[in-house]
Amino acid sequence: MRMYDIIKKKRDGGELTKEEIRFFVEGYTRGDIPDYQASAFTMAVFFSGMTARETTDLTLEMAKSGDMLDLSELGDKTVDKHSTGGVGDKVTLVVAPIAAALGCTVAKMSGRGLGHTGGTVDKLESIPGFKVELSAPEFFKQVKDIGISVIGQSENLTPADKKLYALRDVTGTVESLPLIASSIISKKLASGSQHIVLDVTCGSGAFMKTPADAEKLAEAMVEIGTLAGRKMTAVITNMDTPLGSNIGNILEVKEAVEVLNGGGPEDLRYVCTEIASYMYASCFDASIEEARTKVLDALSSGAALCKFKAMVAAQGGDVSYIEDPSLFPEPKYAYRIVSPEDGYIASMNAETIGIASVLLGAGRSKKEDKIDYKAGISLLKKTGDRVTCGDVIAILYTDDDSKLLEVENMLLSSIKLSLSEPEKETLIYKVIK
Ligand code: URA
Repeated sequence: MRMYDIIKKKRDGGELTKEEIRFFVEGYTRGDIPDYQASAFTMAVFFSGMTARETTDLTLEMAKSGDMLDLSELGDKTVDKHSTGGVGDKVTLVVAPIAAALGCTVAKMSGRGLGHTGGTVDKLESIPGFKVELSAPEFFKQVKDIGISVIGQSENLTPADKKLYALRDVTGTVESLPLIASSIISKKLASGSQHIVLDVTCGSGAFMKTPADAEKLAEAMVEIGTLAGRKMTAVITNMDTPLGSNIGNILEVKEAVEVLNGGGPEDLRYVCTEIASYMYASCFDASIEEARTKVLDALSSGAALCKFKAMVAAQGGDVSYIEDPSLFPEPKYAYRIVSPEDGYIASMNAETIGIASVLLGAGRSKKEDKIDYKAGISLLKKTGDRVTCGDVIAILYTDDDSKLLEVENMLLSSIKLSLSEPEKETLIYKVIK
């Protein structure tokens, strides 16, 4: 078998056999297939797609490419949550401690930023001292002791996805249903949790641009996970506008802490309480109404915030930054963007805003780029808000002033103003089980 023939077959729209998919996954994981052939392959999949059978085979091969964690010693309430990617998406930082405070077991592996979207692992690493790499015994011990640990994908967990994820990030091959579904579900199967709640984002800041495409992705992932014996829930959420007000690593940790303290922006609070409720409902076989009451209690009692602090401390992070987020370092520049006109914000292109935050240093343009945790964007006005000429819409944070004008133009071009008040955005479109 030759990788060259597999690339050509997929390029020309052919259906790959299980053996061909295995040849690619095993060969790429071992390093026998080079990045340039894997890039050509992912681009061929991007354009030609995959059948449901090919996607399932790719997922299972990727899951088997490394260790498959056995979490059975942690009981039957192990729950994982995964987002298909968004801008300002700090939901895991909030829902994981809520679920753990309510008795769910959160033994979770998260990813780094991808394309214009941020990643939980980068955000956690912005907390001084926080270790995202734990050995398996350390990870298990922490989960047994405090019910929660969020770490990066270990070297040997879906190594195929680890390599492909980083490659897709820089080769324009992220927005593909079979590649996203196999990437996410392979990791979830290998990570071992029994209950899986997927936040399937859709809109300008998501990889799936329409609710119909997001629904197809959600259905594919629920089907593969259910076939593999997991209890699946997919929540389709709106990502037309960035979630919450802050985009960028430290900025997002600060906002997540606000929500855990009972405050924070309304859209973020709502999406977090819903997702946490589906996590609880799945683990405890509870109604969604009962789950919502529990989740709101965990927030108002401070139990969720305590869980977050316990996790930060257990993973070597300095809890004083969570207790007093003003301790986080400030970037050199805080550049204000003002509205050029009066009107209502009719839409904001979240993808452009995500790319703008990457340019400021909050994400990577190349695999080897270093992130500036302080960099990012605070949106003071969002879709639906009224603005008058001269109002500050956003603040750009960075240490590198060379990109400020470019980012200002991008941001202003991403925002559409209208004279009439736009309709309120739907935040959750559908839940699929
Ligand atoms: N999140 C993932 O883990 N993989 C993708 O491909 C997209 C989002």
